[in-house]
Amino acid sequence: MARTLDEIAAEILAHKNEGCEFEPCVTCTNMVPGEGSPNAEIMFIGEAPGKNEDLQGRPFVGAAGKLLDRLIGSIGLNRQDVFIANVLKARPPGNRDPLPLEVEHNWPWLEEQIDVLDPKLIVLLGRHAMNRFLPNRRIGQDHGQARLLRGRVFLPVHHPAAALYTRALEQTLFDDFSQIPALLERVRQTPREELLARSVQDSLGEFGFDAEEGREIATRAPSPAEARANELPRGKEKDRERVTDDGAREGEPSGDGENSPQPAPDQLGLF
Ligand code: URA
Repeated sequence: MARTLDEIAAEILAHKNEGCEFEPCVTCTNMVPGEGSPNAEIMFIGEAPGKNEDLQGRPFVGAAGKLLDRLIGSIGLNRQDVFIANVLKARPPGNRDPLPLEVEHNWPWLEEQIDVLDPKLIVLLGRHAMNRFLPNRRIGQDHGQARLLRGRVFLPVHHPAAALYTRALEQTLFDDFSQIPALLERVRQTPREELLARSVQDSLGEFGFDAEEGREIATRAPSPAEARANELPRGKEKDRERVTDDGAREGEPSGDGENSPQPAPDQLGLF
């Protein structure tokens, strides 16, 4: 029988004392399982707990969390209406990036949280969360574009912490969030079988991993900065990333993320 979200959380909390070999599980103050409504239609997935989250055992309670609260408020909801989790359930020492093996170690919990919650929309906060599901995508170019993956709808957006360092990204985030109500309504009206049928299935049969790219289901026009980045000559991929990629968590440096998308009029017309 499927477990409840509370049962998964209890297992994550107990993991702190299980003598795990992975550094974050040992050095963290508290494991941070995630929290929110068991009936949430929207799930937000961040990278990993930061300092405040580690101290409180709750996700997104620092400065980035305050911005996330405002973003959630901008679509007429509050924290209690959604579910907020992270790829990693324990803070990496010094806020370093999660290591690939740490991401895999934490993956069964996140996968089970998604399965049990069964959200209509998963908002991926920043490149680390996005790359766990869409490994070849770039947040600077793909933010604000919903994707269908194995019957689920994902919306990658910049990490709120990136907007603390690059002010222009704050408006970009609000613009990307402004799509959510219409996108959610669209998903509500689309039968699961149709979402599944329209998804690209990955060869491993494993949710969103490996070669899976997802089918684009909503687009927006590229911003001037993105258009410039896309025009860079071959061999300048690093420069392209610098123009549009973001940082991840509070305390981390971010790219300049200089872009403010102009939403296309027919954002949801593709499925
Ligand atoms: N950044 C994250 O990715 N997750 C949190 O919980 C807090 C900050």
